[in-house]
Amino acid sequence: MSTTFQLDTATSRATPTPQPRKRLTVPAIRDHKQAGVTKEPLVMLTAYTARQAQLLDAHCDMLLVGDSLGQVIYGLPSTLSVTMEMMIAHGAAVVRGSYRALVIVDMPFGSYEASPEQAFASASRIMAETGCAAVKLEGGQAMAETIAFLSGRGIPVMAHVGLTPQAVNMLGGYGARGRSQREHEKIIADGQAVANAGAFAVVAEGVVEPIAVAMTASLEIPVIGIGASAQCDGQVLVTEDMLGMFERVPRFVKRYENLAQVVSDAAATYAAEVRARAFPTPDHTYQPKD
Ligand code: KIV
Repeated sequence: MSTTFQLDTATSRATPTPQPRKRLTVPAIRDHKQAGVTKEPLVMLTAYTARQAQLLDAHCDMLLVGDSLGQVIYGLPSTLSVTMEMMIAHGAAVVRGSYRALVIVDMPFGSYEASPEQAFASASRIMAETGCAAVKLEGGQAMAETIAFLSGRGIPVMAHVGLTPQAVNMLGGYGARGRSQREHEKIIADGQAVANAGAFAVVAEGVVEPIAVAMTASLEIPVIGIGASAQCDGQVLVTEDMLGMFERVPRFVKRYENLAQVVSDAAATYAAEVRARAFPTPDHTYQPKD
């Protein structure tokens, strides 16, 4: 399913013009797992901007406009103050910058928990204003009725169980979940509940590995792991984490680059050249035509 396309270098910085190409659909992602088995794991990364989406699109089955943008883009202390407007602005940018991956937009805290009707109003607005194909929301059994309500009305839902960052104040932190038998059983029941309710896939975040393995084996829908297990049906990471944009690296993140160093070094060279009047050179300036 993944990575047979090349980077589209034809798109311009100012006006990205995606090639017409058929996007992966929600049924294609759900049916990627056949009779409980996934041959090739699904690839998902977060994306928040059009250019980032252009660069990631060729390599990913799904792009997630995660509410982690609160911390990553806006420097907020948690995802709790992320707004609908933020999610819609970044969601629309990612849809504009991609043409192959399925784009999923996170529902922000407070936009869906009160009732299925509230969730429908928020999710339909996100889909109408961004052009995304699906939304993601956090919660298991407590959200089952809402997931059934949305799915039955044309809104595909990716669920998110285990470590659910919007519940950080209930959980008491961002540590791994499922170490006690009680919590283990609860997370497994959450996964089953969202699958029964009609979610097309579920993110399992920060759970001890046996939970991720059991959930992947028992659910018909794809289980996308983050801090979970290589046996999941797919994996997701926050792109800036895997690119090494931050010094703090959680255990479950693998850094594939050290972009923080690359950016800092480039800025230092630029600053030195500006101060020495070594930039711009004649190559970078315009002269009158004779
Ligand atoms: O907000 C986010 O980026 C997420 C992923 C970490 C799964 O929910």
